[in-house]
Formats: sequence, C-alpha cells, structure tokens
Amino acid sequence: MARILVTGGTGYIGSHTVVELMQQGYEVVIVDNFSNSSADVLDGIAAIVGVRPAFEQVDCNDAAAMDAVFAQYPDIVGVIHFAASKAVNESVAQPLMYYRNNLMSLVTVLEQMKKHDVHHIVFSSSCTVYGQPAAEYLPVDENAPIQKALSPYGNTKQINEEIICDEAHADAQLRATILRYFNPIGAHPSALIGELPNGVPQNLLPFVTQTAAGLRKELKVFGNDYNTPDGSCIRDYIYVVDLAKAHVKAVERMLQGTATEQVEVFNLGTGKGLSVLEILNTFMQVTGVNIPYQIVGRREGDIEQVWAKPDKANAVLGWKADTPIEDVLFSAWKWEQKIRK
Ligand code: UD1
Repeated sequence: MARILVTGGTGYIGSHTVVELMQQGYEVVIVDNFSNSSADVLDGIAAIVGVRPAFEQVDCNDAAAMDAVFAQYPDIVGVIHFAASKAVNESVAQPLMYYRNNLMSLVTVLEQMKKHDVHHIVFSSSCTVYGQPAAEYLPVDENAPIQKALSPYGNTKQINEEIICDEAHADAQLRATILRYFNPIGAHPSALIGELPNGVPQNLLPFVTQTAAGLRKELKVFGNDYNTPDGSCIRDYIYVVDLAKAHVKAVERMLQGTATEQVEVFNLGTGKGLSVLEILNTFMQVTGVNIPYQIVGRREGDIEQVWAKPDKANAVLGWKADTPIEDVLFSAWKWEQKIRK
C-alpha cells in the first residue's frame, strides 16, 4: 500500500489527517520536530487507529535528515506538508524565523522529493491569502484576488504557493494540491487528539474552551461595531476532522492521476459564515457552560468577514464539510475537559 509522508504530522491538523489516512488504509510516516507538539500525540493516534504510525523526529529544514527519511521509506508516494510555524503575532515579532522555518522547509521537502522520485505534494495553505475580500468576492472562491499579506506568517503561505507553482512549471512530473483552509476548530470525537495551544491562545475556540474550563477569567470579544448582522466578525469555522478527510481525497485524486491541472487549488470551508457571538452562544447552549465575556475594541489586523465558497472542493474532490457546528463545538469542549484532567 502506498505510504504518505506527513510533515508536521503530530500537530493539530496533521494528527487528525494521519488518523484519516490510516483509517483509509494508507501507510504513513510522520516527520515532526516536536517544536509545537509532543510524542503523546502518537499515543493518541495509536489509540484511535489501533496501529502506531511510523515516526521520525526530524526538522524539515535538515536536508540530510530528510534525505535519510526518504531513503528509509522507499514506498513513499506522496507528501502532505503541514510542518510550519503558525502564530501571527510571533511572525510579526520574529519574521526571519518565520521565513527560515516556513520557506526553507518547503524548499527542502521539494528538493528531497525530486531526488527520491516522489511527485505528489499536498500543501497546507490558508484563506489568509485572500485578506479581506471585497463584497463581490464573498463567499470566496479560488479565483478571488490574492491580497498583500498582513503578516510574515501570511506572506510565507503566499510565497510557498508561488514556490510550488514555479517548481511545477520547471518540473513537469510534479503534481501539487494547494488547500486553503478557513478556520479549523474542534477535536477528534474520541477526545484522544485535539488542539494544544502554547501559552495564552490567540485563536477563538481554544480561548473559549479554556474560559469554560476556568483557566481564563473571561473571553474578550474583539469588536461589536463591524458591518455584520450582530457587529462581531464572521468566519467560516470548519471541523478539523472534515478538513482532515479533504486531505485524503486530495491525495487519492493525485495518486489516481485524475487531477486536471498540475497545481490544483481548493478552498476548504463549510460555505457558512458564523459570527463570534454566534459561536459563543452556540457553545454555551451545547455545553450548558456559561462563558463570561466582555466586548472590547477591535483586534488590530482583524478581517471583518470571510467565508468560503467550497463548491469546487465539493464537486471535484467529492468532499463536503457537513458536521453540525453543535457537534464540532461539543468535541472541542470534550477535548478541553480531557486535557485538564
Ligand atoms: C487568525 C489569523 C490568520 C491565521 C489564523 C490561523 C489574524 C488577524 N488572523 O485568523 O492569519 O491564518 O488565525 O489560525 O491573526 N476572537 C475574539 N476573541 C479572542 C480570539 C478571537 O473575539 O480571544 C475573534 C477574532 O476577532 C476573530 C475570530 O474570533 O473575529 C476568529 O479569530 P481567530 O481564531 O484568531 O482566527 P482568525 O482571525 O480568522
């Protein structure tokens, strides 16, 4: 059976994707340097799937070590490249670290793929490449204009997409799928894997669950004076397990040779925008836990509203993010309770 190399496979989206790949019969090998995850995640994956995934503790920037991984697993037929730093604020404070980590790792992965005759890559990109789309581009499809990145993190996603396109232009054998994620949330229904933010969470859902668990005094809602129905920002929150399944579909499509373009791009979202207050109220309803919150000023650099038009992924990948938001929010709460025990 085909083996997929999953970089960043012990991370949040990576670990959920490894589970789905293994459950569909793929062999995997995870490469991760544990910079933002730990070996416990391997136990979680093993507990869900019943088999421990192959794992190599390697930094993707280390060409010699990556070379050795490809040599050790000659059955690798494709790569899903998740490994990257992803904290927007940190990227503003330490741009060079972000450019080194996020750009050099992709370059190294592509070089080693070529050396070892591996020609399929799925790349984790982000809806951040669209910035705040003009009203006529909402919901956002893949043809909406790319806008200047608001942070070094966002810029690394844009540059990485360009690196892939340039390399595909130069190497006719390369096939790539760029997946632009909207806002991934939730945890595996088993509560054996989930999101593990470092320090004070910057993202909405981990802050909500930590407040529900009593770790944070109150949630700050960043602005209620936006041009949206309730004044708070709107995002397309996608269940991480649904998102993980899209990666399996993308891999399948490339391996079957059905991709119609050398580089295919898909927006991965639900197609539905939810406001911060809607998320908060639904979370409280579903869990029965009260979340103290305060409306505060806008967060600098925040986008008012963005949600996906996922029609291309629905039609071409035969995939749909359809887990009800209530179940998604409950999974996040179940996971928070599990890790606080
Ligand atoms: C953020 C990044 C984006 C990145 C993504 C990756 C910014 C401006 N954007 O997206 O580039 O790709 O994370 O994870 O940093 N909110 C609150 N209170 C909180 C936290 C969040 O009200 O304590 C609100 C935010 O204002 C926003 C929504 O919740 O409206 C979602 O925030 P978040 O989870 O940080 O995601 P994005 O801002 O979409």
